[in-house]
Amino acid sequence: MSSNPVQAAHYADRMQQIDAPVLLNHQMARDTFLIRLAAPEIAASVVPGQFVMARIAHLDDPLIGRALAVYNIGNDPLGNPATIDLVYIRKGKLTSSLSRAAIGSTVTIWGPLGNGFSSQTCQHLIMVAGGIGQTPFVLLAQEALGLRSFPGRPAGWADRVTLIYGARTAELLAGVADFQACGVDVRLCTDDGSRGSQMLAPELLAKMLRSEFAEAQSRSVVRVACCGPEIMMRRVAELCAQLAVRCEVSLETPMACGIGICFSCVAKVRQAGGQWDYKRTCVEGPVFSADKIDW
Ligand SMILES: Cc1cc2nc3c(=O)[nH]c(=O)nc-3n(C[C@H](O)[C@H](O)[C@H](O)COP(=O)(O)OP(=O)(O)OC[C@H]3O[C@@H](n4cnc5c(N)ncnc54)[C@H](O)[C@@H]3O)c2cc1C
Ligand code: FES
Repeated sequence: MSSNPVQAAHYADRMQQIDAPVLLNHQMARDTFLIRLAAPEIAASVVPGQFVMARIAHLDDPLIGRALAVYNIGNDPLGNPATIDLVYIRKGKLTSSLSRAAIGSTVTIWGPLGNGFSSQTCQHLIMVAGGIGQTPFVLLAQEALGLRSFPGRPAGWADRVTLIYGARTAELLAGVADFQACGVDVRLCTDDGSRGSQMLAPELLAKMLRSEFAEAQSRSVVRVACCGPEIMMRRVAELCAQLAVRCEVSLETPMACGIGICFSCVAKVRQAGGQWDYKRTCVEGPVFSADKIDW
């Protein structure tokens, strides 16, 4: 992952904390919302796969922030990065409060945080998302297809990009058109068959990889990036290991500080010598090489 310049010694060095004005906050699917925040400093420095921590200043419940992936960036009329979009599913305390945040109110955010996905060249990037795990992939697709460049990283490093996106039911699928607008080949699956194939995302991935390899394409030209429920990421990691496909996973471990201080977010990660160690998902992740995770 040496091609990722953000994986330096002090991962939260580029972080800024701001009270970001809410510009937009609308529902895009069942229980799923997009909030647009004015945050030029963060929009200018984020890379795909990074996140911000968010909390609402006047609320003491929850007191601690929640991690949310940066979903998209908007430019001002001069073409400079000016806004960030976050997409969240209304689940508990913070996301319920966030869904009520009015235009003109502010959300306290600090970021960008974490390492982000690597940007190694490949012919085919396959992004696998489950639940709300699609949120880090719009920026990754934009970069991979050369639609947007990010500080210190190459752009246009994949010939084509596919999104395999699984949800329990069609009403929960959020942002499909955003991916299609980037030129991503979107393959949907739902548990109840209400949209796309009635199968789980890892099964759809297995089918796609096997058919690509049957056409004699070299395995080294395919890369997988995965984000979603742990059980799905584990299955995708196992499949990629069996088929010798490079795979990165973005862990959604609960976090308290987001900047490496509290150790609430550790994951078991294998070291070069074969032994494992705890790594802080907020600063040494959230993106890890899938073969390094001790599931
Ligand atoms: C790097 C990273 C990126 C992330 N990116 C995103 C993102 O882009 N979008 C996103 O939505 N989330 C994302 N998450 C998860 C997010 O940080 C929060 O954990 C999540 O939004 C829940 O926060 P909350 O305060 O609303 O829920 P909490 O109040 O903290 O509740 C925690 C859990 O309890 C359960 N729960 C609580 N209340 C209820 C209820 N009324 N009904 C059912 N279950 C309940 C839910 O399982 C819930 O997940 C990310 C996490 C990480 C680590
Ligand atoms: S959330 Fe505090 S160390 Fe990671």
